[in-house]
Amino acid sequence: MPCEPDELLDFLKSRRSIRKFKPDPVPREVIEKILDTARFAPSARNSQPWRFIVVDDPSIKEQFANIHPWAQPLKNAPLGIVVVADKNTSPTSYLVDGANATIYIQLAAHALGLGTVWLQTLRNIEDIQRILNLPENLVPVAMLAVGYPDEQPKPKDRLPLEKLMYYNKYTP
Ligand SMILES: Cc1cc2nc3c(=O)[nH]c(=O)nc-3n(C[C@H](O)[C@H](O)[C@H](O)COP(=O)(O)O)c2cc1C
Repeated sequence: MPCEPDELLDFLKSRRSIRKFKPDPVPREVIEKILDTARFAPSARNSQPWRFIVVDDPSIKEQFANIHPWAQPLKNAPLGIVVVADKNTSPTSYLVDGANATIYIQLAAHALGLGTVWLQTLRNIEDIQRILNLPENLVPVAMLAVGYPDEQPKPKDRLPLEKLMYYNKYTP
Protein backbone atom coordinates (compact mmCIF):
# COMPACT_ATOMS: atom_id res chain seq x y z
CA MET A 1 0.00 0.00 0.00
CA PRO A 2 1.67 3.26 -1.12
CA CYS A 3 -0.04 5.34 1.58
CA GLU A 4 -1.87 4.85 4.85
CA PRO A 5 -5.28 3.17 4.33
CA ASP A 6 -7.14 6.01 6.07
CA GLU A 7 -5.30 8.55 3.90
CA LEU A 8 -6.46 6.70 0.82
CA LEU A 9 -10.05 6.61 2.06
CA ASP A 10 -9.91 10.34 2.83
CA PHE A 11 -8.56 10.90 -0.68
CA LEU A 12 -11.50 8.99 -2.18
CA LYS A 13 -13.93 11.07 -0.13
CA SER A 14 -12.25 14.33 -1.15
CA ARG A 15 -13.07 14.14 -4.86
CA ARG A 16 -15.59 16.76 -5.96
CA SER A 17 -17.14 17.53 -9.30
CA ILE A 18 -15.31 20.57 -10.69
CA ARG A 19 -17.10 22.82 -13.15
CA LYS A 20 -14.77 25.86 -13.23
CA PHE A 21 -11.29 25.44 -14.62
CA LYS A 22 -8.13 27.48 -15.03
CA PRO A 23 -7.16 28.03 -18.66
CA ASP A 24 -3.83 26.19 -18.18
CA PRO A 25 -3.49 23.34 -20.66
CA VAL A 26 -3.15 19.77 -19.41
CA PRO A 27 0.14 18.29 -20.65
CA ARG A 28 -0.24 15.23 -22.84
CA GLU A 29 1.95 13.12 -20.52
CA VAL A 30 -0.48 13.88 -17.68
CA ILE A 31 -3.47 12.88 -19.84
CA GLU A 32 -1.73 9.66 -20.78
CA LYS A 33 -0.84 8.89 -17.16
CA ILE A 34 -4.52 9.23 -16.23
CA LEU A 35 -5.74 7.06 -19.08
CA ASP A 36 -3.01 4.51 -18.43
CA THR A 37 -4.44 4.16 -14.91
CA ALA A 38 -7.99 3.80 -16.25
CA ARG A 39 -6.87 0.63 -18.05
CA PHE A 40 -6.80 -1.04 -14.63
CA ALA A 41 -10.52 -0.62 -13.96
CA PRO A 42 -12.45 -3.89 -13.62
CA SER A 43 -14.59 -5.12 -16.51
CA ALA A 44 -16.78 -8.15 -17.13
CA ARG A 45 -14.58 -11.07 -18.25
CA ASN A 46 -11.74 -8.52 -18.38
CA SER A 47 -13.27 -7.49 -21.70
CA GLN A 48 -11.90 -3.89 -21.40
CA PRO A 49 -14.53 -2.59 -23.83
CA TRP A 50 -13.57 1.06 -23.21
CA ARG A 51 -11.94 3.49 -25.59
CA PHE A 52 -10.96 7.02 -24.60
CA ILE A 53 -11.35 9.99 -26.93
CA VAL A 54 -9.44 13.05 -25.80
CA VAL A 55 -11.00 16.23 -27.15
CA ASP A 56 -8.86 19.36 -27.13
CA ASP A 57 -9.98 20.81 -30.46
CA PRO A 58 -11.97 23.91 -29.38
CA SER A 59 -14.62 23.50 -32.10
CA ILE A 60 -15.34 19.87 -31.18
CA LYS A 61 -15.31 20.73 -27.46
CA GLU A 62 -17.82 23.51 -28.17
CA GLN A 63 -20.16 21.05 -29.90
CA PHE A 64 -20.10 18.84 -26.79
CA ALA A 65 -20.54 21.80 -24.44
CA ASN A 66 -23.75 22.66 -26.31
CA ILE A 67 -25.11 19.13 -26.49
CA HIS A 68 -27.31 19.74 -23.45
CA PRO A 69 -27.59 22.52 -20.84
CA TRP A 70 -25.68 20.60 -18.17
CA ALA A 71 -22.62 20.10 -20.40
CA GLN A 72 -21.61 23.78 -20.12
CA PRO A 73 -18.56 23.04 -17.89
CA LEU A 74 -16.82 21.87 -21.06
CA LYS A 75 -16.87 25.47 -22.29
CA ASN A 76 -14.20 26.56 -19.82
CA ALA A 77 -12.36 23.24 -19.53
CA PRO A 78 -9.14 22.88 -21.54
CA LEU A 79 -9.99 19.28 -22.25
CA GLY A 80 -12.79 16.78 -22.64
CA ILE A 81 -12.51 13.02 -22.44
CA VAL A 82 -15.29 10.88 -23.90
CA VAL A 83 -15.39 7.32 -22.60
CA VAL A 84 -16.96 4.99 -25.12
CA ALA A 85 -17.66 1.29 -24.66
CA ASP A 86 -17.96 -1.45 -27.25
CA LYS A 87 -21.26 -3.24 -26.82
CA ASN A 88 -20.07 -6.07 -29.08
CA THR A 89 -17.15 -6.84 -26.76
CA SER A 90 -19.17 -6.70 -23.54
CA PRO A 91 -22.86 -7.01 -24.52
CA THR A 92 -24.30 -7.38 -21.01
CA SER A 93 -22.00 -5.05 -19.12
CA TYR A 94 -20.60 -2.36 -21.42
CA LEU A 95 -22.33 0.44 -19.51
CA VAL A 96 -21.01 -0.59 -16.12
CA ASP A 97 -17.58 -1.39 -17.55
CA GLY A 98 -17.46 2.09 -19.07
CA ALA A 99 -18.62 3.63 -15.80
CA ASN A 100 -15.81 1.82 -13.97
CA ALA A 101 -13.21 3.28 -16.34
CA THR A 102 -14.80 6.72 -15.94
CA ILE A 103 -14.51 6.78 -12.17
CA TYR A 104 -10.90 5.54 -12.44
CA ILE A 105 -10.22 8.54 -14.70
CA GLN A 106 -11.87 10.89 -12.21
CA LEU A 107 -9.85 9.51 -9.31
CA ALA A 108 -6.54 9.40 -11.23
CA ALA A 109 -7.09 13.00 -12.32
CA HIS A 110 -7.86 13.98 -8.72
CA ALA A 111 -4.64 12.31 -7.56
CA LEU A 112 -2.71 14.47 -10.05
CA GLY A 113 -4.35 17.71 -8.91
CA LEU A 114 -6.84 17.94 -11.78
CA GLY A 115 -10.57 18.41 -11.51
CA THR A 116 -13.25 16.64 -13.51
CA VAL A 117 -16.99 16.51 -13.85
CA TRP A 118 -18.95 13.64 -15.37
CA LEU A 119 -21.34 14.92 -18.05
CA GLN A 120 -24.34 12.90 -19.10
CA THR A 121 -24.15 11.24 -22.53
CA LEU A 122 -26.89 8.64 -22.44
CA ARG A 123 -29.64 10.91 -23.80
CA ASN A 124 -27.47 12.03 -26.72
CA ILE A 125 -25.83 8.82 -27.88
CA GLU A 126 -26.45 9.33 -31.60
CA ASP A 127 -25.38 12.99 -31.59
CA ILE A 128 -22.11 12.10 -29.89
CA GLN A 129 -21.53 9.16 -32.24
CA ARG A 130 -21.99 11.52 -35.18
CA ILE A 131 -19.63 14.20 -33.83
CA LEU A 132 -16.90 11.63 -33.08
CA ASN A 133 -17.46 9.49 -36.13
CA LEU A 134 -18.18 6.45 -33.94
CA PRO A 135 -19.65 3.23 -35.30
CA GLU A 136 -22.98 2.10 -33.80
CA ASN A 137 -21.32 -0.47 -31.48
CA LEU A 138 -19.19 2.20 -29.71
CA VAL A 139 -21.50 3.80 -27.17
CA PRO A 140 -20.54 7.01 -25.35
CA VAL A 141 -20.90 6.16 -21.67
CA ALA A 142 -19.63 9.43 -20.21
CA MET A 143 -17.93 12.68 -21.10
CA LEU A 144 -15.63 14.36 -18.64
CA ALA A 145 -14.62 18.00 -18.52
CA VAL A 146 -11.02 18.00 -17.29
CA GLY A 147 -8.66 20.75 -16.15
CA TYR A 148 -6.95 22.44 -13.24
CA PRO A 149 -9.65 23.44 -10.71
CA ASP A 150 -10.61 27.08 -10.35
CA GLU A 151 -13.10 26.45 -7.55
CA GLN A 152 -13.24 24.51 -4.31
CA PRO A 153 -16.82 23.28 -4.01
CA LYS A 154 -18.15 22.20 -0.65
CA PRO A 155 -18.94 18.49 -0.31
CA LYS A 156 -22.41 17.53 -1.51
CA ASP A 157 -24.69 15.93 1.07
CA ARG A 158 -24.50 12.19 1.29
CA LEU A 159 -27.13 9.84 2.67
CA PRO A 160 -26.08 8.40 6.02
CA LEU A 161 -24.73 4.87 5.96
CA GLU A 162 -27.55 3.57 8.17
CA LYS A 163 -30.04 4.45 5.41
CA LEU A 164 -28.04 2.57 2.79
CA MET A 165 -26.77 -0.57 4.39
CA TYR A 166 -28.34 -3.88 5.33
CA TYR A 167 -26.99 -7.16 6.56
CA ASN A 168 -28.18 -10.28 4.79
CA LYS A 169 -31.62 -9.07 3.62
CA TYR A 170 -33.19 -5.83 2.55
CA THR A 171 -35.75 -4.48 5.00
CA PRO A 172 -38.03 -1.71 3.69
C1 LIG B 1 -24.10 9.48 -14.62
C2 LIG B 1 -23.77 10.89 -14.18
C3 LIG B 1 -24.20 11.96 -14.94
C4 LIG B 1 -23.87 13.26 -14.57
N1 LIG B 1 -24.22 14.29 -15.40
C5 LIG B 1 -23.83 15.54 -15.10
C6 LIG B 1 -24.06 16.60 -16.04
O1 LIG B 1 -24.57 16.40 -17.14
N2 LIG B 1 -23.65 17.85 -15.69
C7 LIG B 1 -23.04 18.11 -14.49
O2 LIG B 1 -22.68 19.28 -14.25
N3 LIG B 1 -22.79 17.12 -13.58
C8 LIG B 1 -23.17 15.85 -13.86
N4 LIG B 1 -22.86 14.81 -13.00
C9 LIG B 1 -22.14 15.09 -11.74
C10 LIG B 1 -23.05 14.96 -10.51
O3 LIG B 1 -23.93 16.07 -10.48
C11 LIG B 1 -22.19 14.90 -9.23
O4 LIG B 1 -21.33 13.78 -9.29
C12 LIG B 1 -23.06 14.79 -7.99
O5 LIG B 1 -23.82 15.97 -7.82
C13 LIG B 1 -22.24 14.58 -6.71
O6 LIG B 1 -21.30 15.63 -6.55
P1 LIG B 1 -19.73 15.32 -6.42
O7 LIG B 1 -19.31 14.62 -7.69
O8 LIG B 1 -19.06 16.66 -6.25
O9 LIG B 1 -19.55 14.42 -5.25
C14 LIG B 1 -23.16 13.50 -13.36
C15 LIG B 1 -22.72 12.41 -12.60
C16 LIG B 1 -23.00 11.12 -13.01
C17 LIG B 1 -22.45 9.95 -12.20
